[in-house]
Amino acid sequence: MQTVEAIPALREAVAAWRAAGESVALVPTMGNLHQGHLRLVFEAKKLAKRVVASIFVNPAQFGAGEDFAAYPRTPAHDIELLRAQGTDLVFMPPSGVMYPIPPQAMSFVEVPGLSKELCGAFRPGHFRGVATVVCKLFNLVRPDVAVFGEKDYQQLAVIRRMAADLDFPIHVQGVPTVREADGLAMSSRNAYLTPAERSLAPNLYRTLCDAASAIRRGELDFRALEERHFRILRNYGFRPDYFSIRRSGDLEVAEKDHTSLVILAAAWLGKTRLIDNVNLETGKN
Ligand code: PAF
Repeated sequence: MQTVEAIPALREAVAAWRAAGESVALVPTMGNLHQGHLRLVFEAKKLAKRVVASIFVNPAQFGAGEDFAAYPRTPAHDIELLRAQGTDLVFMPPSGVMYPIPPQAMSFVEVPGLSKELCGAFRPGHFRGVATVVCKLFNLVRPDVAVFGEKDYQQLAVIRRMAADLDFPIHVQGVPTVREADGLAMSSRNAYLTPAERSLAPNLYRTLCDAASAIRRGELDFRALEERHFRILRNYGFRPDYFSIRRSGDLEVAEKDHTSLVILAAAWLGKTRLIDNVNLETGKN
């Protein structure tokens, strides 16, 4: 496995594979890898001959007062996990390589509409930062396929829109959420939870599943369901940002005649913001 920090070395490695007729998958990450990330690499290996994983804690997607400085950074451990998983190349650019001038002064990519909804309403500028860095990674690696987790469902939708709107010839593959035994979606931010918060945290997924069951039983007043489950989260001890029932394809607000649905929630436990979703179309989550 190669580990590279510089863009020319990355391009050289990918060009050599291309010259040999090999396909390439990209798995973008911010490091501090867990089983959810390793599942992305596992799926990527099925989809292409070569797998590039990137590790970059992207300052442009963190707002003022968010956890950019505290975000866990474990590069040596990440490299070992990626090696064991059969990754071909890890791209770990220093910040100055991705942003030679401050990100606020650089060109950016904005996916309108979708970026302002749900998490975007609570984290202004977040999806602009995500779309911009993923666009840069797409240009640097030029993969055939790029793999992202479905836990970040809105992020996946933003990236799909960006790739389609900007004509990237890249298949964007979503991978089902990997969960702890008690249902909590795996996330690097779970490490912020105190033991008491950690024991409450699985109630987020439980509440989403409860809403999904209510819909399956025929409860179709989605606004009433949203309000009720928002309150349920509060009663568990969360400070919910939102609990929302959307169309799974485009994340438009769902009405009762829509059948392909995703229920999404974001909620705080102490200093930790958790997100999760349940997709009623596939029942995968
Ligand atoms: O999901 C993440 O880890 C990040 O948002 C991503 C896609 C790597 C962009 O920085």
